[in-house]
Amino acid sequence: MRRILVCCLLFCAAAVPAAAQTVQQRLPVCLACHGANGQSQTEGVPSLGGQQAFYTTVQLLMFRERMRVADPMNEMAKGLSDDDLRSFADIIARLPAPKPPSGSMDDARMARARALVEQNRCNFCHTPAFAGQDNVPRIADQREEYLVKALRGYKDNSRHGYDASMADVVAPITNQQILDLAYYIARVR
Ligand code: HEC
Ligand code: HEC
Repeated sequence: MRRILVCCLLFCAAAVPAAAQTVQQRLPVCLACHGANGQSQTEGVPSLGGQQAFYTTVQLLMFRERMRVADPMNEMAKGLSDDDLRSFADIIARLPAPKPPSGSMDDARMARARALVEQNRCNFCHTPAFAGQDNVPRIADQREEYLVKALRGYKDNSRHGYDASMADVVAPITNQQILDLAYYIARVR
């Protein structure tokens, strides 16, 4: 979380009023947190590379309207026009998708989570490679702790989806299953 604060300080130090800046001028601020190559190196900050443009547009709109409440994104989306949201979404979609971490993995845990994925049809909506489609996000190789936070948020209703799909999906899922699902999705190859 400390690195997020640093990004915030840098952003606030820039004297130009945010609303007067173009999308291209603002982009470096976004990517300082989210990772310039599409992959976030910062705890709690999601990777954006290859994200579905429609999903991103909807989420930025929800941040702007405070339908999705999350620091620092409500502040970041303030004053953006609908065209700005679409421009950010198009640029983000063209960044390279995040890569799976190297190193060994727990095969038994992967197998257990794979069964959960099929049972809950995660691979149906999010597509078999978890690349997402339309308003369904890419989740493949997303940061593990962000996936846990997202799934817990849908479950405890602190994150409201644009539709109720995810609230329905996570209702029967236990905390241990959330941890296993995030472990798996963060490592899919
Ligand atoms: C200070 C760090 C920081 C900056 C700067 C920042 N973000 Fe974020 N962003 C975050 C965090 C943290 C989240 C996750 C919020 C949550 O937990 O739900 C996020 C979430 C998002 C999401 C949702 C991703 C998803 O998978 O649902 C999008 C899209 C996004 N940011 C785009 C942007 C854009 C565009 C900018 C620049 C205008 C920007 N961000 C600037 C930290 C930042
Ligand atoms: C019925 C279709 C559907 C199914 C089944 C489904 N999802 Fe989703 N998922 C969605 C949609 C739509 C969203 C975007 C919701 C929103 O607006 O926040 C989403 C969002 C997410 C997010 C947030 C990603 C981000 O970048 O913030 C995660 C994580 C996720 N799903 C994981 C899963 C997992 C794990 C499963 C299986 C247990 C699953 N989904 C099953 C439709 C589905």
